[in-house]
Amino acid sequence: MSALQDHLNEVAAYTASSKEEVEQFRLKYLSKKGILADLFAEMKNIPGDQRKAYGLQVNELKVNVEEKLQSFQSILEAAADATSGGPIDLTLPAAPLPLGSRHPITLIRNRIVSIFSRIGFTVSDGPEIEDDWHNFTALNFPENHPARDMQDTFFIEMKGGSDSIALRTHTSSVQVRVMETTKPPIRSLMPGRVYRNEAISARAHCFFHQVEGLYIDEGVTFADMKQTLLYFSREMFGAETQIRLRPSYFPFTEPSAEMDVTCEICKGKGCNVCKYTGWLEIMGCGMVDPNVLQNCGIEPEKYSGFAFGMGIERIAMLKYGVKDLRLFSENDIRFLRQFSAE
Ligand code: PHE
Repeated sequence: MSALQDHLNEVAAYTASSKEEVEQFRLKYLSKKGILADLFAEMKNIPGDQRKAYGLQVNELKVNVEEKLQSFQSILEAAADATSGGPIDLTLPAAPLPLGSRHPITLIRNRIVSIFSRIGFTVSDGPEIEDDWHNFTALNFPENHPARDMQDTFFIEMKGGSDSIALRTHTSSVQVRVMETTKPPIRSLMPGRVYRNEAISARAHCFFHQVEGLYIDEGVTFADMKQTLLYFSREMFGAETQIRLRPSYFPFTEPSAEMDVTCEICKGKGCNVCKYTGWLEIMGCGMVDPNVLQNCGIEPEKYSGFAFGMGIERIAMLKYGVKDLRLFSENDIRFLRQFSAE
């Protein structure tokens, strides 16, 4: 029995550093003439009342031997794998790092900004949390006027304050800020995120992105606006693009229009993207209402100007054939990865 205990101790303490040593260990214990075979053969000589305990111990030894063998085999195999590639070649070029790509909304915004910057437009920025004056009142939305319902607003409750604070519903609020602080001539773009209280679906979201533009100087006319927007449309959608202006209404422009471009996909022939009309609506525009100029401290008798505004998501959906607006804000890497880093 004590010889058995010696074997158990030996197995527990055993270490090996080579395949050969492990093989010797295996043969010593598990071969036909090995220790375990001897111990099992001894079984018949053990007195009946001790046989069970003996059997259990021999079995324990066998299990221990097998576990030892397994662990050393896997350690040695792992070490062999690690070195099988031979010595490391330090002169090899590094494996390329996977590069990220720009977000499609950023790509389109940059394109819009670059097109207008070529004709002298700068970029202006403003806060996303706005007061009533900059988002509505200065823009000629009379208080309690139903026109405020055109854009469902997220209002922010202020502790003890009576001022009406909201998430901006359009970046026209930045136009007001620019007019209040800049003497004409003004030629600027206002890109940014805007918020509207709408149910989220494939075609609407509670936040999205706009680029608005403003041009104010002496003698600016509707014809200037038309030509500027035609230039933009051809740069954005191709040299053959046509535009059309349909009468519309915004409190801050008079006259106001919606602008359509010929469908880039069917070239105006009609397809399911343009709903078989050949035209796609892409922006609102108009001549800045004299009341707005007055509200912002610009003399309407001396200056005139035009403004326009478009949704970046809408243009990105048209350019990239994206069918669901929600994809732009879900951060799914499989979607984002498809846009090359321009
Ligand atoms: N602010 C308008 C909107 O968000 C867009 C617009 C801007 C229309 C400027 C006309 C002129 O819908």
